[in-house]
Amino acid sequence: MQTYLRYAAGALGAVAILVLLLAPLASVLVDTWSLRDLESRSKLVYLSIKDQVTRHLASGNDSDVVSLFESLTADEKLLAVGYCDEAGQLLFATKLMPAKFACGSAPSGEGGTFSTIENEGSKILAASFPVAAPKGTGHLVVLHDLSFAERRAAKARLHWALAIAGAGLALVALAALSAFHLSRQWLGVIRQTIAEAAGAPAFIPNAPRAAPLLGSELRQLVRDLQRAPPLAEGIQVEWSPQTLRLLLGHELPNAEVLVVSNREPYIHNRTGDGIEMQIPASGLVAALEPVMRACGGTWVAHGSGSADRETVDAHDRIAVPPSAPAYTLRRVWLSEDQQAGYYYGFANEGLWPLCHISFVPPNFREADWRSYQEVNRLFAEAIAKEARSDDPIILVQDYHFAVLPRLLKERLPRATILTFWHIPWPNAETFSICPFKEEIIGGLLGSTILGFHTQFHCNNFLETVDRFIEARIDRERASVTFGGHETIVRPYPISIEWPPQALEKQASVDECRRSVRAELGIGEDVHIGVGVERFDYTKGVLNRIRAIDELLTRHPEWRGRFVFIQAAAPSRSKLDTYRHLQEEAKELAGAVNAKYGGAGPEPIHLLIRHHEPDEVFKLFRAADVCVVSSLHDGMNLVAKEFVAARDDERGVLVLSQFAGASRELAEALIVNPYDAHGLGEAIDEALNMPLNEQRERMRLMRAQVKERNVYRWAGQMLLDAARVRKRRRIVDLAEQRQLGG
Ligand code: G6P
Repeated sequence: MQTYLRYAAGALGAVAILVLLLAPLASVLVDTWSLRDLESRSKLVYLSIKDQVTRHLASGNDSDVVSLFESLTADEKLLAVGYCDEAGQLLFATKLMPAKFACGSAPSGEGGTFSTIENEGSKILAASFPVAAPKGTGHLVVLHDLSFAERRAAKARLHWALAIAGAGLALVALAALSAFHLSRQWLGVIRQTIAEAAGAPAFIPNAPRAAPLLGSELRQLVRDLQRAPPLAEGIQVEWSPQTLRLLLGHELPNAEVLVVSNREPYIHNRTGDGIEMQIPASGLVAALEPVMRACGGTWVAHGSGSADRETVDAHDRIAVPPSAPAYTLRRVWLSEDQQAGYYYGFANEGLWPLCHISFVPPNFREADWRSYQEVNRLFAEAIAKEARSDDPIILVQDYHFAVLPRLLKERLPRATILTFWHIPWPNAETFSICPFKEEIIGGLLGSTILGFHTQFHCNNFLETVDRFIEARIDRERASVTFGGHETIVRPYPISIEWPPQALEKQASVDECRRSVRAELGIGEDVHIGVGVERFDYTKGVLNRIRAIDELLTRHPEWRGRFVFIQAAAPSRSKLDTYRHLQEEAKELAGAVNAKYGGAGPEPIHLLIRHHEPDEVFKLFRAADVCVVSSLHDGMNLVAKEFVAARDDERGVLVLSQFAGASRELAEALIVNPYDAHGLGEAIDEALNMPLNEQRERMRLMRAQVKERNVYRWAGQMLLDAARVRKRRRIVDLAEQRQLGG
């Protein structure tokens, strides 16, 4: 609207300038025309009475001459008529003849002369024409009042100006109408092209078509727009909580952020001493929690702690972190049966082993699947209730909620649903084991964006879609369109906050080492290795112990000079596979300790309990080497946390080639955890690595984790979400205009 007003003001200005420029010319034209008009009127008067005057003069009939003259002055424009004799004497004149008029001021000429004379401040046109008389040739004078002509000229000038202005305005209006019509046509073409390039179905009936060349150029531009920003943003932006907040405010103003995961970020448990708060061992929580602290919003999760119900308000909400609340945790309650079917059964006995190649066969039970769907519905209801707007951004987390995206889409069709799959996605052949594969894939394709850690997992997912459902896969745009809805499928490598909060409270590296040594009775000259994880068969804890056995067998010099601290948090202990793993690990560690411990220190310290982040970071800082030997892992954030903990740039990371993190942390010693000998050799290499090499490797890895931190992970997903929302707004706008005609 403002643009149109600006154009209108400009056009009016142009018309005014035109009128001002043309006014003098118009004035000259009108004045000349008026004078000529009066001259010809004078001539007409002369011609009409010339003969009568001659006759009256010849007959000496003076009174007839005067009355003839008077009859002419009935015309109000004619001021006076008179007769001058040959001697220049005014013999006859009408009543209004100016007293000061002298015949000499209107000299006679052959065909008539015209002159302008002044009379009492006004101008008079005096015309003089020869008249034959008995006493020689006299002349007839005809006086016209020029002020009348001037008044008429002024009027004419005004009309002229109005005519020019009118014509100018009409032209401007005509041009504006044509421009408006043209621009509407072009906007239609552009909207249509953008929508088509964005992969939306043709949404404008009878929309004008772009010329083929223009259409393809536009499409290319839109695609460039779609592709270029993530790269550029990734390179230039230093990601931090502030950057993320800025991004939200700028790209997604007033957007409501909701996160949903099975595991909650803070668990309240009842102990003998009262209520204790625990931060669970979960890569998902480690990554998401700092993001929520930065963005605010609501995190919906299963309330799994024994004192969780006592710590929420009447709406099952609690502000967290309890020490400095930044967002809301909304707890959802699950019955024992629901936990058994949905969490232990379908999620952890079915999907977890299915997606990890770790040779534990997945177990899919119909009843677990029903429970899984039921709990997904329960969460969908809870989220729909929590949402304050109709288009929130919902971050759905992990394999516990494969069908939730579709359920959410049904309840909140305008929501932007970002789903992140924290574990690997297997190849299509492996996934075909799942009897409910179509429903799982269809459920995930309710998402706006579906993220995996690596391109490899994205490819596996697309291959699975291709194999099992009827959908359109656009590999260039990395998207799947299923049932008319498009889901973008992209890799977003997850990471940790930088700098990690747990590092703030840490003592110096030397103090951490002293403290750990004192706690576990480890001597000064003994090298320390650490491993930190949940007790999970995917983590390769047994493989690690076997590798330590190999190391001590092949490199006896390390006996009594190397201990490995394995912090392992009990996890999913209700499941046989997990319980057996713990038993097996204890046995194996006991056997290795018995073999090499003898009179000296036991080489393996198996600490089976939950460790809070502060304790974990202390262990990392005390270590000479950290071993991450996952048999299969989406990313593995322990590897990144170890690197972040070592601000002294010492320590060596030994990292499984089957963890997503190995793609980013190339300066680690990359190992195959199934190869006990190779893993043992890598630990030996790490223990012997010179300090300067440790520093070089650690520096590069720290720079990598610092730059590609978790704010970047969240930021890139949110940027993609913002782009999708903007595109949708364009489509909505176009549809509205179309409906409104
Ligand atoms: C993995 C999963 C997370 C899960 C975590 C801990 O990292 O991807 O979703 O929270 O393990 O497992 P738990 O079953 O204890 O939540």
